[in-house]
Amino acid sequence: MSFTRTHRHIVGISFGLLGCIFITLMGVFTLRADNQTDGVAAVYQGFRDGKCQSCHPAIWREWENSMHAKAWVDEIYQAAASQVPDRETKCDQCHAPQPILVTGVGKMPKLRDRDREAGVSCLVCHLDAHGAMHGPPASAETYFHANVTNPVHTDPTALCSTCHGQPSVPEHDQVSSFLSSKFAEKNQGCATCHMPVVTRLQSTASYESIKGRKHTWRGSRSVAQLRRAAGLQLEYETGKVSVKLQSKTGHVLPGGTLRTLILEVVLLTSEGIERWKQAVSISDDNENRLLPAERRTYTFDNVSATTGDTIKAALMYQLTPATPEAAWVLMAEASYVVP
Ligand code: HEC
Ligand code: HEC
Ligand code: HEC
Ligand code: HEC
Ligand code: HEC
Repeated sequence: MSFTRTHRHIVGISFGLLGCIFITLMGVFTLRADNQTDGVAAVYQGFRDGKCQSCHPAIWREWENSMHAKAWVDEIYQAAASQVPDRETKCDQCHAPQPILVTGVGKMPKLRDRDREAGVSCLVCHLDAHGAMHGPPASAETYFHANVTNPVHTDPTALCSTCHGQPSVPEHDQVSSFLSSKFAEKNQGCATCHMPVVTRLQSTASYESIKGRKHTWRGSRSVAQLRRAAGLQLEYETGKVSVKLQSKTGHVLPGGTLRTLILEVVLLTSEGIERWKQAVSISDDNENRLLPAERRTYTFDNVSATTGDTIKAALMYQLTPATPEAAWVLMAEASYVVP
């Protein structure tokens, strides 16, 4: 990396004296980075001291609110793992992993000794064994870390499948069903839906805004994501209600084994009195999750509706078996008034 280029740049965005102090400090890190272990240790320390956050504030904010940041402190996770006697070898390695570029992309991750509360941190996906940050092509350089362009970060599934597609952990596999979907055929990837494209300065020290991807990983806790997950159509012909579901999700729906979709169909009189009700649960336990793009019709016979009655169908999302009905999320609905 070139001293003058970075120096000019920092002065250019008027860091002034602060910049000089910073460059001096970074110089120290650069010298220490000659020793591999020190370079990595400096990056870990920088992460703890808020350095990643101060140069990458936008990305940090996105990550901080994501389930990756919470993968260790997540109460649902901790409650489940506490039931597993050998959790350190069976569970914890993906919820507080060492950097996967070091332990091997695609290989089962290894448990970190420190900073477990940082969950799936920046370092887990970006840090290599020499203290460099790997990612898509960068527009600027920094003294704090070297930038290495690595095709793994723009591959449709390679990075994600390290944790979301381990053959020995089918409970947490979104990758297999994705790979046999039309999304994969169209060369889309996990990032298409979970890391939307955004043009911005990637860091406070960047030269120009370039295309990157949001580090939000919105999944089943996002109402917007759930509303996008499936389509629902309702049809009625004398005595028979048909509900057509169509998955628009890139993998099995629901994506996780703790989740349940509830399809509820009710018949209401014109006064709003419930006369008939039926519900279907769709989950891994019931072995009836929807495949990507799958269309499925549920039919209900002997529904005796009369003129003025309303038939309503609602598809709802239950986060865990303990989630009370009042907290289920409405994904799609339709209604029909009998003429
Ligand atoms: C191969 C990596 C890996 C291993 C090993 C692993 N997990 Fe996970 N875990 C994940 C991923 C990825 C997710 C998110 C995707 C999903 O839910 O399928 C997740 C999500 C979860 C969730 C859902 C959390 C929530 O907030 O809803 C629970 C609970 C959980 N894991 C428990 C466990 C337990 C218990 C073990 C050990 C028996 C374990 N995990 C082992 C990768 C792993
Ligand atoms: C002194 C400021 C600074 C600090 C501190 C800093 N970065 Fe960066 N980082 C940059 C700049 C500048 C770029 C290049 C951005 C661009 O292309 O516009 C960059 C790029 C990156 C990239 C992309 C690399 C690539 O080649 O695609 C990653 C990943 C990254 N940083 C992660 C981190 C992490 C994690 C930390 C904390 C350990 C960190 N950065 C700390 C300034 C910094
Ligand atoms: C090092 C392991 C690891 C890698 C790599 C990884 N994840 Fe995750 N991911 C997890 C874990 C663990 C969780 C579950 C956290 C929890 O709920 O406790 C998770 C959760 C998620 C969620 C669920 C969020 C929610 O609110 O339900 C999405 C979406 C997600 N990951 C997408 C991705 C994508 C896309 C990639 C690839 C760019 C990726 N992950 C790479 C471990 C990983
Ligand atoms: C679960 C893995 C994962 C985690 C955790 C993660 N990143 Fe990334 N990051 C990626 C992927 C994948 C890309 C490439 C996106 C693309 O296709 O451009 C990326 C891209 C980047 C880039 C390039 C600019 C951009 O927006 O695409 C920077 C800078 C970066 N990450 C910094 C960070 C920082 C800082 C953190 C922690 C606050 C972090 N990342 C956490 C997977 C991750
Ligand atoms: C076409 C868009 C799309 C693509 C592509 C896609 N997803 Fe999803 N994903 C969704 C939607 C919608 C949801 C919310 C519904 C659900 O929970 O299944 C979701 C949910 C998730 C969840 C949360 C599951 C849970 O139980 O909380 C994880 C984890 C996840 N996706 C990972 C991935 C991974 C890994 C890939 C790449 C193999 C991927 N997704 C590709 C749309 C997509």
